[in-house]
Amino acid sequence: MKKINVAIVGVGSFTKALVEGVAFYTKNPNEHRGLMNPFIGPYQVQDINFVAAFDVDERKVGKKLHEAISVKPNITKQITESLTYDAVVHRGPTLDSVSKAMKESFVQESTTPATDVATVLRESKADLVVNLVPSGGEQATLAYAQAALDAGCGFINCIPTPLATLSDWTQRFEAKGLVLLGDDIKSQLGATMLNRILLEFLKIRGIRVLKSEQENRGGNADHFNLLDRAASKEKSKREALTQFLTEDDVKPKVNFIYTGVPSGHKRVTIDIEGEMFGRVPITIHSVIEDEISVNGAGVLVDAIRVAKFLMDSNRQSDAWKASPFLMKSPTRPVSDGKAFDLFQEIIKVSHD
Ligand SMILES: NC(=O)c1ccc[n+]([C@@H]2O[C@H](COP(=O)([O-])OP(=O)(O)OC[C@H]3O[C@@H](n4cnc5c(N)ncnc54)[C@H](O)[C@@H]3O)[C@@H](O)[C@H]2O)c1
Repeated sequence: MKKINVAIVGVGSFTKALVEGVAFYTKNPNEHRGLMNPFIGPYQVQDINFVAAFDVDERKVGKKLHEAISVKPNITKQITESLTYDAVVHRGPTLDSVSKAMKESFVQESTTPATDVATVLRESKADLVVNLVPSGGEQATLAYAQAALDAGCGFINCIPTPLATLSDWTQRFEAKGLVLLGDDIKSQLGATMLNRILLEFLKIRGIRVLKSEQENRGGNADHFNLLDRAASKEKSKREALTQFLTEDDVKPKVNFIYTGVPSGHKRVTIDIEGEMFGRVPITIHSVIEDEISVNGAGVLVDAIRVAKFLMDSNRQSDAWKASPFLMKSPTRPVSDGKAFDLFQEIIKVSHD
């Protein structure tokens, strides 16, 4: 079976969960529990292979990928011991991806000069680049995307910083026979999704929304980063929530709270108040407790496989059909039910 060669940008907690998740399904090839789609086209999770990685932190640069995922400040519940890889973490260009606060706390910037990303991608025979730099790294995201284009790799933008939703990037990838998926990867079962389903349901049932507040509490590096770089994340989440609301409803609120206690565990509360029949009040209180990086990795394994499968079968222009199921800010937003149908349609074609 052909493998999917993946280059990772940003060897943080999310990457740790992804690499260990691939190890879990490789060690247990008949285990399909926990997967949204065991097969995407011909690909299973164990067909994902890591061939290159980039980071800027001196504790990670120069290490093998399977060693770098477990150094501080990465923190997430271990799924299983990683497989071993020859892929070494290269020093990527920092540009704007590390805020001043992050430099003083979570990221210890390496003094090694930045490598030429496109050259590493070509030499490692990467099919796809997965962007997992901290939220807010706009120049860094554009630079890695350009390197992917130059090297002939598809690109998956997992972070809220816009790329696929910028006007011409999707076409630029398509024109080279490549796929761009983005922006801002969904969780397998996340707060935005539950908040959105509840709001959509309220609208279908004729209920006016008077309050919708989502509070995200966590203690990993990304939560810290969001203290001063939450703008694109909040925008991405808010836009995902407002699709079904009318002018008569309030605008949903989204807050991030950094607990200061190192943990990959996240606790989200969603409080909704509305008015039902006869303008009588109704309230909904929901809580999600999850391991944030694992929750995202469960979706990224689908994004990687569908991107490669669309490129294999020359269906780059169908990337928009995959995005709404996978991304919080897709190029063409649709309802969650429609997003599922579009994704399944792509998978069905794969078996023809
Ligand atoms: N469920 C989820 O965890 C989830 C969901 C949606 C989006 N995201 C996004 O995924 C991204 C990664 O999340 P995380 O928890 O792994 O964050 P993290 O802070 O643990 O990891 C980010 C890594 O990127 C590295 N980095 C910084 N600048 C870089 C550069 N220019 N080039 C290469 N590497 C660089 C850092 O050193 C760090 O190792 C964030 O932007 C987050 O918003 C995560």
